[in-house]
Formats: sequence, C-alpha cells, structure tokens
Amino acid sequence: MFSVAIDGPSGAGKSSISKTVAKQLGFIHIDTGALYRSLALTAIENDVNTDNEISLKKLLNSTKIEITFINGSQAVLLNGENVMGKIRTEEVSMAASKISKIPMVRSFLLDLQREIACRNNVIMDGRDIGTVVLPNADVKIFLTASAEKRAERRYKELLEKNEKIEYNVVLEDVVKRDYQDSHREIAPLKPAEDSVIVDTSEMDFEQSVNAIKRVIEEKL
Ligand code: DC
Repeated sequence: MFSVAIDGPSGAGKSSISKTVAKQLGFIHIDTGALYRSLALTAIENDVNTDNEISLKKLLNSTKIEITFINGSQAVLLNGENVMGKIRTEEVSMAASKISKIPMVRSFLLDLQREIACRNNVIMDGRDIGTVVLPNADVKIFLTASAEKRAERRYKELLEKNEKIEYNVVLEDVVKRDYQDSHREIAPLKPAEDSVIVDTSEMDFEQSVNAIKRVIEEKL
C-alpha cells in the first residue's frame, strides 16, 4: 500500500487539495479532522464535559466511529449515523480544537487511522499524520500558506456566505489557532523532518493540486 501524509495549519486548503489529488491518482482520501469533529459533536449532543476524564471515558466507551465512502467521498458514521452534515459549524470547530488536545481522544482515533492506511492507497490529511499516525508514510507533505493569505481565503468564503466580519478579526483567529495547534503538548503541528514543504501563498487551487501531485508522482 502507498500512503501520503499531508499536514499543515488550518486554512491551507489541505482537504480540498488532497481530495482532488486523491481522485486523480485513484487513492482514497481521509480527512482526519472530520474524526475529531465527530467526537466533538457527540460530546456536545450528549452534554459531556470533556474536561471530566471519567465522563469522557464513558462517552468514548459507548461511541462507535467508522469511516465509509458515499459516491467516492468520505463519510463518518457516529454510532451508525452519517454526521457529515453536522460537523462544519463554528461550535463544533471550537469543540474539536479543544477535544483534540486530550491524549485519550488522540489514542482513541489512532488505530482507526492506521488501519485504513494499511488496507488502502491513501492520502491522509491532518496535523500529525507524518509525525505520529503514519511515521513511515511513503510521502510526507507539509502544506502551508502565509497567515495573511489563509485569512484572506477564509474572509472571502465568509463574505460569500454573507457573514459580516472584519478581515482583521479573521486574521487574528488564524494566528491564534496556529499558535494553539503548534504549541499543544501532544502531537503539536509541525513539519515531519522528512517532509516536503509546499507553500501555496502564491498559488491558486489548480497550481496547488499540481504541486502536490508532482511531489507524490516523484515517489510513485
Ligand atoms: O482540519 P480540521 O479543521 O477539520 O480539524 C478540526 C480540529 O481537529 C482542529 O482543531 C485540529 C484537530 N485535528 C488534530 O488535532 N489532528 C488531526 N490529525 C486533525 C485535526
């Protein structure tokens, strides 16, 4: 099996770029952020205080999380329910960021991620794929862009959704999230030593897809 690990900060376009590249190369694409988001959703829905170790353990023990594919796209099944339509809210984003710092949560999701890579040619994106989940991945890419560019892209998305927000506020959030992600104790966001760094600040979507494809095809 061939595995590609793509890590990087939020807003670098990891998931959309990975999904497109995977489709073109005939690999499956796994967005691991969706797993953290799904666990965050179940904690919210069950009103579980994730700071309480006992309650969290109980919740994890009664949670079944699976990955499936619907029309070629990844879906997460939470106790059998497809939750993809529920995990992109701001509330779930914040809860996922919080829950992803907890070691019990990270180890709960580790085997699932590794098993998928054992059985499929995969492009897996996240924060710690090249460093922790798949340290022996065939290709490791750290996909990034300047904070300003990522904030600009996010700002445009929000404007399109008619959300009223100042660019500076979006930029501040990006910088704050970068700091949190790269300074947490467990599995912090950082490039694996053997990763190829791809900076998409000056690239459009198609150029980014081609840049990633080139890196992978060199190793195929
Ligand atoms: O990529 P995303 O925004 O969907 O990720 C949601 C949260 O999960 C984010 O705060 C970081 C965390 N995450 C993580 O800690 N490790 C991963 N491999 C993927 C996501």
